[in-house]
Amino acid sequence: MSKKILVLPGDGIGPEIVAEAVKVLDCLRQDHGLDAELAHGLIGGAGYDATGKPLPEDTLQEALASDAVLLGAVGGPAYDALDRPLRPERGLLTIRSEMGLFGNLRPAILYPQLAEASALKPEVVSGLDILFVRELTGGLYFGEPRGIRTLENGERQGYNTLVYSESEIERIGRLAFETARRRDKRLCSVDKANVLEVTELWREIMTGLASDYPDVELSHMYVDNAAMQLVRAPKQFDVLVTENMFGDILSDCAAMLTGSIGMLPSASLDRNGKGLYEPIHGSAPDIAGKDVANPLATILSVAMMLRHSLDEPALAERVQAAVGAVLDQGLRTADIHTPDTRRVGTVEMGDAVVSALRGA
Ligand code: IPM
Ligand code: MG
Repeated sequence: MSKKILVLPGDGIGPEIVAEAVKVLDCLRQDHGLDAELAHGLIGGAGYDATGKPLPEDTLQEALASDAVLLGAVGGPAYDALDRPLRPERGLLTIRSEMGLFGNLRPAILYPQLAEASALKPEVVSGLDILFVRELTGGLYFGEPRGIRTLENGERQGYNTLVYSESEIERIGRLAFETARRRDKRLCSVDKANVLEVTELWREIMTGLASDYPDVELSHMYVDNAAMQLVRAPKQFDVLVTENMFGDILSDCAAMLTGSIGMLPSASLDRNGKGLYEPIHGSAPDIAGKDVANPLATILSVAMMLRHSLDEPALAERVQAAVGAVLDQGLRTADIHTPDTRRVGTVEMGDAVVSALRGA
């Protein structure tokens, strides 16, 4: 049966990078037998402009009825002054939560061709292949109570709540152990158990789960040390499992190990493997509309979609191979450009991936 993919370009560079990923999907449909239908919808600032809501009701209903969602990015300065519930980011957080996408997979892989583009020495990062399993629908991002209140003395106070129930920890823990099982079988659980009770519970639950996965080696690391180790010796890691905000921060850090945040895809999965796929970078309003953004993270997100939600692992391999081929050809967008390579724009990069797919 034909699969349904909902495409949500969003804001800033979102529409440009998603257009290139859609070319890739179209090529797979035409030449490689992918049986999928695409529908388009609005989210973020684009959703707010059209309907007054960052997550229009239609978009949510379509997303719930789709097998997979491809998203660009949300946000921009035009929306910064809006009330928090109307901001583009809230649209993204609400779709993650309403779709039950608790498990966010963020691979950080260094393509050998980009070793020179990393801010770290090639020997520190060459061969890097690590994977974050970020909890995505709980923790500090969603915890109640939250807000800004005025104290009796008239001073204002902002507050958020970092909260995790046992079942939420167990759910992300099992996903992480199962993911590690299919890789190098090493799982590092990131916490701040020396200070925060919630992550003391996190550590206890992760430790308890380990007996169900005797083939996976579990270790624990405080989040501050994890940040340091990521830039000191990142290859020591295989899979890292983190609370929502720790994962947000550490995955940006890991992105730079790979040369550019413009290279990193992500998959956000529910219990049944249905998912939303997006690059981990933001909407980059400063470069929007200039044909300079790197579409590869979005194209690699399509590869993750093929693997995790569309049951097409062979096509996922083809897309990844096509990205490798354009890098081999020396094509680079501005973010990964080095002197001996050829600088190309967003569209030319997307076209080159499609040509590589056609040739494959
Ligand atoms: C990410 C982004 C989002 C997050 C923002 C845009 C809400 O930074 O996906 O990492 O914080 O989760
Ligand atoms: Mg982030």
